[in-house]
Amino acid sequence: MIKKAEFVMSNSQVSKCPKELLPEYAFIGRSNVGKSSLINMLTNQKNLAKTSARPGKTQLINHFKIDNTWFLVDLPGYGYARVSKSTKKVFQQFITQYFEQRTQLVCAFVLVDIRHEPQKIDLAFMQWLGEHNIPFAIVFTKADKLKPLMIERNIKSYQDILLKSWEEFPPYFITSAENRAGKEELTTYIEQINTMLKKQSSE
Ligand code: GTP
Ligand code: MG
Repeated sequence: MIKKAEFVMSNSQVSKCPKELLPEYAFIGRSNVGKSSLINMLTNQKNLAKTSARPGKTQLINHFKIDNTWFLVDLPGYGYARVSKSTKKVFQQFITQYFEQRTQLVCAFVLVDIRHEPQKIDLAFMQWLGEHNIPFAIVFTKADKLKPLMIERNIKSYQDILLKSWEEFPPYFITSAENRAGKEELTTYIEQINTMLKKQSSE
C-alpha cells in the first residue's frame, strides 16, 4: 500500500534528475496509453500526474517520491504523431538517454492498451530494452473497456509474438485506472522488489 506520494521535479535532462540513490520505476508507453492515469490510481491521487484526453500531455521526466523510499517516474509517450518531427526527436532522445543513463532504474513498466493488437512501436521498444539489459514488465491498460474473453485473447497474441524472439514472457499486469484493477498486484510487485533490494544492500 502506498501511503505517501509527492511530486519532486520535472526535467528534460537526465543529468538533472534527483541524485538520491533510491530504487526507481518508470512508466513508459505510447502517448495516451494511460501512464499518468495509472500513476494517479496507484498513488490514490486525482491530479498528482497530469492527464489529458489529448495525446502528448506529459512532455518531461517527472519524478514522484513514494513513501520516502522509492521513485516513480512519469515519462512522455513515444510515437506521438502530432508533434513536429524535431520535437519528436528531442523526446525520443531524452527518453532513450533516461533509460541508458539512469542507474537507479530498477524496472520499466511498458504500458500497452489492452484493446489493440500488438503494435510495432511497442514491440520495438521492448526489444530495445532487452538489448540494453533493462528489466521490464508489461502493463496492460484500460481493461475496463474490454470483456474478460477479449482481454485473454489479446494477451495471448502478445505472448505468441514475444515468445517468437524471447525465451519467456515478461511479468505482466492487467490494469484499469477507471476501476482500479491491478492496483494491488502492481504495488505488491514493486514493494517485493524494494524489500529484496534492501535485504541485498544490508548483507
Ligand atoms: P501522454 O502523457 O500524453 O503520453 O498520455 P498518458 O499515457 O499519460 O495518458 P493519460 O493518463 O493522460 O490518459 C489518456 C486518456 O486515457 C485520458 O483521457 C484518460 O482518462 C484515459 N484513460 C487512462 N487510463 C484509463 C483507463 O484505465 N480506462 C479508461 N477507460 N480510460 C483511461
Ligand atoms: Mg502522461
